[in-house]
Amino acid sequence: MHLHKYEKIWLVFGMGSLALFLIIIGFAAFWKGTHPQSHIETIDPNNVEAHEEFKPENLGLREVADGKYKVNIVASAFNYDMGKDAEDKAVRTIRVPKGATVLFQITTRDVVHGFQVAGTNVNMMVEPGHISRFEAVMKNSGEFTIVCNEYCGIGHHQMFGTVEVYE
Ligand code: CUA
Repeated sequence: MHLHKYEKIWLVFGMGSLALFLIIIGFAAFWKGTHPQSHIETIDPNNVEAHEEFKPENLGLREVADGKYKVNIVASAFNYDMGKDAEDKAVRTIRVPKGATVLFQITTRDVVHGFQVAGTNVNMMVEPGHISRFEAVMKNSGEFTIVCNEYCGIGHHQMFGTVEVYE
């Protein structure tokens, strides 16, 4: 079998890049410990309330220590349940001071959702049966939109909220 010179070059290039990317993935996964945000921690998606962090009264923002906050959220099509405010209205905005360390804990009752706080490095996939956690330091003040970035159905575009970081 005769292979044309350019054919050989592109064959080597293609297989080489495949090997290179597999090495990068292997390095990130096994040496650096990079893995999905769910950390293999499971939860019953039909009964998320059974988990302490996702009981209705524990949803939303809580200050756990000086400058340290925790936000518990239950996602479902097509809403982020962040608890109720003093007037019994659904919370749509999370307010934290600049420089706060915020641990986001989120799970879903139904399908896969996304949880991205645009303009920050908070970006998680939320899978049914798993708890996604990410701790972030809110370095910049302003209003940041929470968006679902996994297509979850007809009301996907209606899934949003706000993180307000004040000075
Ligand atoms: Cu939830 Cu898209």
